[in-house]
Amino acid sequence: MGWYGDQVLPRIIDVACGVKMVVPLRQRVCEQLHGRVLELGFGSGLNVPYYPDGVTAVDAAEPSDVAWRLAGKRLAASSVQVRRSALDGELLPYGDHSFDTALSTWTLCTIPDPAAALREVRRVLRPGGTFHFIEHGLAPDEDVRRWQHRLEPMQRRLAGGCHLTRSVGDLLTAAGFTITELDVFYEGRPRALGAHSLGTAVSA
Ligand SMILES: C[S@@+](CC[C@H](N)C(=O)[O-])C[C@H]1O[C@@H](n2cnc3c(N)ncnc32)[C@H](O)[C@@H]1O
Repeated sequence: MGWYGDQVLPRIIDVACGVKMVVPLRQRVCEQLHGRVLELGFGSGLNVPYYPDGVTAVDAAEPSDVAWRLAGKRLAASSVQVRRSALDGELLPYGDHSFDTALSTWTLCTIPDPAAALREVRRVLRPGGTFHFIEHGLAPDEDVRRWQHRLEPMQRRLAGGCHLTRSVGDLLTAAGFTITELDVFYEGRPRALGAHSLGTAVSA
Protein backbone atom coordinates (compact mmCIF):
# COMPACT_ATOMS: atom_id res chain seq x y z
CA MET A 1 0.00 0.00 0.00
CA GLY A 2 3.00 2.28 0.40
CA TRP A 3 4.18 4.48 3.24
CA TYR A 4 1.03 6.66 3.39
CA GLY A 5 -1.32 3.66 3.49
CA ASP A 6 0.82 1.59 5.84
CA GLN A 7 2.07 4.21 8.29
CA VAL A 8 0.00 7.40 8.07
CA LEU A 9 -3.53 6.30 7.24
CA PRO A 10 -4.02 3.96 10.23
CA ARG A 11 -3.10 6.88 12.51
CA ILE A 12 -5.50 9.24 10.73
CA ILE A 13 -8.26 6.62 11.00
CA ASP A 14 -7.49 6.13 14.70
CA VAL A 15 -8.10 9.85 15.30
CA ALA A 16 -10.94 10.38 12.80
CA CYS A 17 -12.88 7.28 13.89
CA GLY A 18 -12.15 7.95 17.55
CA VAL A 19 -14.16 11.17 17.77
CA LYS A 20 -16.67 11.49 20.63
CA MET A 21 -19.59 11.97 18.23
CA VAL A 22 -19.52 8.28 17.23
CA VAL A 23 -19.29 6.85 20.75
CA PRO A 24 -23.09 6.41 21.12
CA LEU A 25 -23.12 4.59 17.75
CA ARG A 26 -20.33 2.25 18.84
CA GLN A 27 -22.16 1.58 22.10
CA ARG A 28 -25.38 0.83 20.23
CA VAL A 29 -23.85 -1.53 17.71
CA CYS A 30 -21.85 -3.43 20.33
CA GLU A 31 -24.55 -3.84 22.95
CA GLN A 32 -25.94 -7.15 21.64
CA LEU A 33 -22.58 -8.86 21.12
CA HIS A 34 -22.11 -12.02 23.12
CA GLY A 35 -20.13 -15.25 23.27
CA ARG A 36 -17.26 -15.74 20.85
CA VAL A 37 -17.10 -12.68 18.60
CA LEU A 38 -15.46 -12.04 15.24
CA GLU A 39 -14.56 -8.39 14.62
CA LEU A 40 -14.03 -7.68 10.94
CA GLY A 41 -11.63 -4.76 10.28
CA PHE A 42 -10.68 -4.38 13.93
CA GLY A 43 -8.59 -1.26 13.21
CA SER A 44 -7.11 0.31 16.34
CA GLY A 45 -9.58 -1.35 18.69
CA LEU A 46 -11.95 1.58 19.07
CA ASN A 47 -14.83 -0.79 19.89
CA VAL A 48 -12.98 -2.60 22.67
CA PRO A 49 -14.25 -0.33 25.49
CA TYR A 50 -17.85 -1.07 24.41
CA TYR A 51 -17.76 -4.88 24.37
CA PRO A 52 -20.50 -5.92 26.80
CA ASP A 53 -20.06 -8.38 29.66
CA GLY A 54 -21.46 -11.32 27.70
CA VAL A 55 -18.49 -11.32 25.29
CA THR A 56 -16.19 -14.22 26.15
CA ALA A 57 -13.45 -13.79 23.50
CA VAL A 58 -12.83 -11.79 20.33
CA ASP A 59 -11.01 -12.77 17.16
CA ALA A 60 -9.83 -9.73 15.21
CA ALA A 61 -9.45 -9.74 11.43
CA GLU A 62 -7.18 -6.81 10.61
CA PRO A 63 -4.43 -6.41 7.97
CA SER A 64 -2.74 -3.30 9.40
CA ASP A 65 0.18 -3.87 11.81
CA VAL A 66 0.17 -0.18 12.75
CA ALA A 67 -3.55 -0.22 13.61
CA TRP A 68 -3.02 -3.32 15.74
CA ARG A 69 -0.17 -1.61 17.59
CA LEU A 70 -2.34 1.46 18.18
CA ALA A 71 -4.92 -0.83 19.79
CA GLY A 72 -2.43 -1.82 22.51
CA LYS A 73 -3.57 0.59 25.21
CA ARG A 74 -7.27 -0.29 24.72
CA LEU A 75 -6.48 -4.00 24.80
CA ALA A 76 -4.43 -3.60 27.98
CA ALA A 77 -7.35 -1.83 29.67
CA SER A 78 -9.88 -4.52 28.72
CA SER A 79 -10.68 -7.77 30.48
CA VAL A 80 -11.82 -9.38 27.21
CA GLN A 81 -9.31 -11.64 25.51
CA VAL A 82 -8.71 -10.38 21.96
CA ARG A 83 -6.38 -12.07 19.49
CA ARG A 84 -5.52 -10.93 16.00
CA SER A 85 -6.04 -14.25 14.30
CA ALA A 86 -6.80 -13.16 10.73
CA LEU A 87 -5.32 -10.61 8.33
CA ASP A 88 -7.97 -10.67 5.61
CA GLY A 89 -11.71 -10.75 6.11
CA GLU A 90 -12.13 -12.23 2.64
CA LEU A 91 -10.37 -15.44 3.67
CA LEU A 92 -11.01 -16.31 7.30
CA PRO A 93 -8.95 -19.10 8.88
CA TYR A 94 -11.78 -20.46 11.06
CA GLY A 95 -14.00 -23.47 10.82
CA ASP A 96 -17.67 -23.23 9.88
CA HIS A 97 -20.03 -22.07 12.65
CA SER A 98 -17.21 -20.94 14.99
CA PHE A 99 -18.74 -17.66 16.23
CA ASP A 100 -21.86 -16.55 18.09
CA THR A 101 -21.80 -12.96 16.87
CA ALA A 102 -19.80 -10.78 14.47
CA LEU A 103 -19.11 -7.06 14.34
CA SER A 104 -18.17 -4.63 11.59
CA THR A 105 -17.87 -0.88 12.04
CA TRP A 106 -16.93 1.31 9.06
CA THR A 107 -15.15 -1.59 7.36
CA LEU A 108 -17.33 -2.86 4.49
CA CYS A 109 -16.55 0.42 2.67
CA THR A 110 -12.86 -0.50 2.53
CA ILE A 111 -12.57 -4.26 2.12
CA PRO A 112 -11.72 -4.84 -1.57
CA ASP A 113 -14.35 -7.59 -2.01
CA PRO A 114 -17.09 -7.04 0.60
CA ALA A 115 -19.27 -9.77 -0.91
CA ALA A 116 -16.52 -12.34 -0.30
CA ALA A 117 -15.99 -11.06 3.25
CA LEU A 118 -19.69 -11.30 4.07
CA ARG A 119 -19.86 -14.82 2.67
CA GLU A 120 -16.98 -15.70 4.98
CA VAL A 121 -18.64 -14.04 7.98
CA ARG A 122 -21.79 -16.00 7.28
CA ARG A 123 -19.86 -19.25 6.97
CA VAL A 124 -18.11 -18.82 10.31
CA LEU A 125 -21.22 -17.67 12.22
CA ARG A 126 -23.25 -20.42 13.83
CA PRO A 127 -26.79 -20.87 12.46
CA GLY A 128 -28.86 -18.11 14.05
CA GLY A 129 -25.69 -16.14 14.82
CA THR A 130 -25.96 -12.39 14.35
CA PHE A 131 -23.91 -9.81 12.51
CA HIS A 132 -23.91 -6.32 14.04
CA PHE A 133 -22.87 -3.41 11.86
CA ILE A 134 -22.58 0.29 11.39
CA GLU A 135 -21.31 1.27 7.98
CA HIS A 136 -21.41 4.32 5.77
CA GLY A 137 -22.51 3.73 2.21
CA LEU A 138 -24.94 4.58 -0.55
CA ALA A 139 -27.24 7.41 0.54
CA PRO A 140 -31.03 7.11 0.42
CA ASP A 141 -31.35 10.42 -1.49
CA GLU A 142 -30.59 10.83 -5.18
CA ASP A 143 -28.94 14.27 -4.85
CA VAL A 144 -26.52 12.91 -2.22
CA ARG A 145 -25.83 9.82 -4.35
CA ARG A 146 -24.77 12.05 -7.24
CA TRP A 147 -22.15 13.67 -4.95
CA GLN A 148 -21.06 10.26 -3.71
CA HIS A 149 -20.35 9.10 -7.27
CA ARG A 150 -18.40 12.32 -7.96
CA LEU A 151 -16.34 12.13 -4.75
CA GLU A 152 -15.70 8.39 -4.67
CA PRO A 153 -12.52 8.32 -6.83
CA MET A 154 -10.85 10.91 -4.57
CA GLN A 155 -12.10 9.21 -1.40
CA ARG A 156 -10.70 5.88 -2.57
CA ARG A 157 -7.27 7.42 -3.18
CA LEU A 158 -7.10 9.36 0.09
CA ALA A 159 -8.77 6.88 2.41
CA GLY A 160 -7.17 3.56 1.54
CA GLY A 161 -9.78 2.26 -0.90
CA CYS A 162 -12.84 3.53 1.01
CA HIS A 163 -15.96 3.51 -1.19
CA LEU A 164 -18.96 5.82 -0.80
CA THR A 165 -21.49 4.03 -2.98
CA ARG A 166 -21.76 0.53 -1.53
CA SER A 167 -25.25 -0.46 -0.45
CA VAL A 168 -24.85 -2.23 2.88
CA GLY A 169 -28.37 -3.69 2.81
CA ASP A 170 -27.94 -5.11 -0.69
CA LEU A 171 -24.55 -6.60 0.17
CA LEU A 172 -25.95 -8.35 3.24
CA THR A 173 -28.97 -9.71 1.43
CA ALA A 174 -26.85 -10.94 -1.49
CA ALA A 175 -24.60 -12.79 0.99
CA GLY A 176 -27.61 -14.66 2.34
CA PHE A 177 -28.20 -12.71 5.55
CA THR A 178 -31.65 -11.71 6.74
CA ILE A 179 -31.68 -8.14 8.04
CA THR A 180 -33.62 -7.99 11.29
CA GLU A 181 -32.90 -4.38 12.30
CA LEU A 182 -31.85 -1.50 10.06
CA ASP A 183 -31.61 2.19 10.84
CA VAL A 184 -30.55 4.41 7.93
CA PHE A 185 -29.57 7.98 8.80
CA TYR A 186 -27.14 10.79 8.17
CA GLU A 187 -24.49 11.46 10.80
CA GLY A 188 -21.75 14.00 10.18
CA ARG A 189 -21.01 16.23 7.21
CA PRO A 190 -20.90 16.22 4.26
CA ARG A 191 -23.90 13.93 3.86
CA ALA A 192 -22.08 12.10 1.04
CA LEU A 193 -19.67 10.74 3.68
CA GLY A 194 -22.24 10.43 6.44
CA ALA A 195 -24.96 8.16 5.06
CA HIS A 196 -25.08 5.41 7.66
CA SER A 197 -26.68 2.00 8.08
CA LEU A 198 -26.77 0.56 11.59
CA GLY A 199 -28.35 -2.76 12.29
CA THR A 200 -28.36 -6.49 12.79
CA ALA A 201 -28.52 -9.33 10.31
CA VAL A 202 -28.99 -13.00 11.06
CA SER A 203 -27.32 -15.93 9.40
CA ALA A 204 -29.90 -18.62 8.73
C1 LIG B 1 -12.17 2.89 8.35
S1 LIG B 1 -11.29 1.64 9.15
C2 LIG B 1 -12.39 1.17 10.48
C3 LIG B 1 -11.67 0.54 11.62
C4 LIG B 1 -12.53 0.09 12.80
N1 LIG B 1 -13.50 -0.90 12.41
C5 LIG B 1 -13.21 1.24 13.49
O1 LIG B 1 -14.44 1.26 13.60
O2 LIG B 1 -12.51 2.15 13.95
C6 LIG B 1 -11.39 0.22 8.04
C7 LIG B 1 -10.56 -0.95 8.53
O3 LIG B 1 -10.72 -2.05 7.62
C8 LIG B 1 -9.48 -2.71 7.54
N2 LIG B 1 -9.44 -3.58 6.35
C9 LIG B 1 -9.08 -3.24 5.09
N3 LIG B 1 -9.09 -4.33 4.29
C10 LIG B 1 -9.46 -5.37 5.07
C11 LIG B 1 -9.63 -6.76 4.83
N4 LIG B 1 -9.43 -7.31 3.61
N5 LIG B 1 -9.99 -7.54 5.87
C12 LIG B 1 -10.20 -7.01 7.11
N6 LIG B 1 -10.05 -5.71 7.38
C13 LIG B 1 -9.68 -4.89 6.38
C14 LIG B 1 -8.48 -1.56 7.53
O4 LIG B 1 -7.15 -1.98 7.79
C15 LIG B 1 -9.08 -0.65 8.60
O5 LIG B 1 -8.58 -0.98 9.87
